[in-house]
Amino acid sequence: MGSDRTPTDPAVTEALWSQLAERAAEMVGVAYAPYSRVHVGAAALVDDGRIVTGCNVENASTGLGICAEVNLTGALVSSGGGRLVALSVLAGDQQPIMPCGRCRQFLYEFGGDELLVATSEGVLTLGQLLPHAFGPGDVSARAD
Ligand code: THU
Repeated sequence: MGSDRTPTDPAVTEALWSQLAERAAEMVGVAYAPYSRVHVGAAALVDDGRIVTGCNVENASTGLGICAEVNLTGALVSSGGGRLVALSVLAGDQQPIMPCGRCRQFLYEFGGDELLVATSEGVLTLGQLLPHAFGPGDVSARAD
């Protein structure tokens, strides 16, 4: 997958988007969300072809809940790393849910501007969802 990915990149086929949605839906089914009752599942294609997943995990100490996408990045790292290429995030109604701000930042670390995200508005790049992002390059550029 090249460095010029666009929302209509043919490299991510309809069959692949369906597979990601299927895996995200499985994650919705195991999400731990007894407090908000918003069950979220995420699945992403990695640049080596594997698929990583995550679900939200809430806590009795309300503010400590972890989003599905953040857990997905943990699964990415713990299963060998790589770059995220395409992402599906679904809620309990099986419709796409927009990644929250913190999730966009986590996703940026591992997918950058080019990560493709299936949203209710169609496939968007993470660059469109998180323009002018602060990323790893900014840390090295600004460190003393
Ligand atoms: N949630 C996610 O898992 N991902 C998002 O991008 C948005 C929100 C979760 C957090 C919380 O457990 C529930 O959805 C309601 O906010």
